Amino acid sequence: MARKKSKETLADKADKYKCYLKSVQSPEHEVEFFDQAFMEVFGRKPVTLREDFCGTFAVCCEWVKLGDQRTATAVDLDVEPLDWGRQHNYSRLSQQQQSRIRILEQDVRKHNRPRVDVLAAQNFSFWIFKTRPELLEYFRLARSNMADEAVMVMDMMGGGDCYSEGVVDKRVIKKGKKGFNYHWEQGRFNPVNHDADFSISFKFKDGSKLKRAFHYQWRFWTIPEVRELLQEAGFRETHVYWELEDKDGEDTGEWERGDDVPSNPSWISYIVAIR
Ligand SMILES: C[S@@+](CC[C@H](N)C(=O)[O-])C[C@H]1O[C@@H](n2cnc3c(N)ncnc32)[C@H](O)[C@@H]1O
Repeated sequence: MARKKSKETLADKADKYKCYLKSVQSPEHEVEFFDQAFMEVFGRKPVTLREDFCGTFAVCCEWVKLGDQRTATAVDLDVEPLDWGRQHNYSRLSQQQQSRIRILEQDVRKHNRPRVDVLAAQNFSFWIFKTRPELLEYFRLARSNMADEAVMVMDMMGGGDCYSEGVVDKRVIKKGKKGFNYHWEQGRFNPVNHDADFSISFKFKDGSKLKRAFHYQWRFWTIPEVRELLQEAGFRETHVYWELEDKDGEDTGEWERGDDVPSNPSWISYIVAIR
């Protein structure tokens, strides 16, 4: 007797990279911030970008739209997100834009030329380096891939809530039939060495889930530790940027430097290091 075919769930049909892009990334805001960070130091617009840990290199694809001179280098060692990026992000660009992106399937800890104006390491990806020597080595190499006048941009998260285990941040990404929910889960946190476990799951309208679609084992670095290592690696200055809030406490999408800010239970910031 033929087995009854089980119905395909929304999770079966979902594309985890598409869900990730919709929930986690806003490449157009990222590139806007890179311009701001560079302009504030050098008073001109940057031209070249290197996106370390680029995944699907959505940020590079946005960068080359900003001007005919702009070029971008995308670096990741995993061929799967790179291929997804080729098919879904890169393919949407004009030929002229495509010709200004170079995709490198390699470790970020490699020298490449030419050196760039902006080197970005987004979504906490450098937290994969768990010890001071490893992170210092990465920062030194990153610096060597940067032009004389250049900035490195990284994001950071923190706040008291981030040290609790099992906290799940749930967000509705899109309402309606095609809508889904995004769950960011903080799993284990080890206070002795700051090893931390995070995962991203997606939940769909029919109750099906892409459980732990992305999973990260990182060291939970703090801002002072990272700034000290950047200084040790040779960067001449570092600045921390915080998002401005409107009068109702809502994020505005505008960022400014801050050295003494309120201690929110959960925050995201940028560190900008000047070469
Ligand atoms: C958290 S994802 C970030 C993707 C993307 N930057 C973003 O903002 O969404 C981390 C990425 O880093 C890549 N990665 C991890 N270690 C790496 C290394 N040593 N060299 C190059 N890529 C690495 C992984 O393959 C993965 O695509």
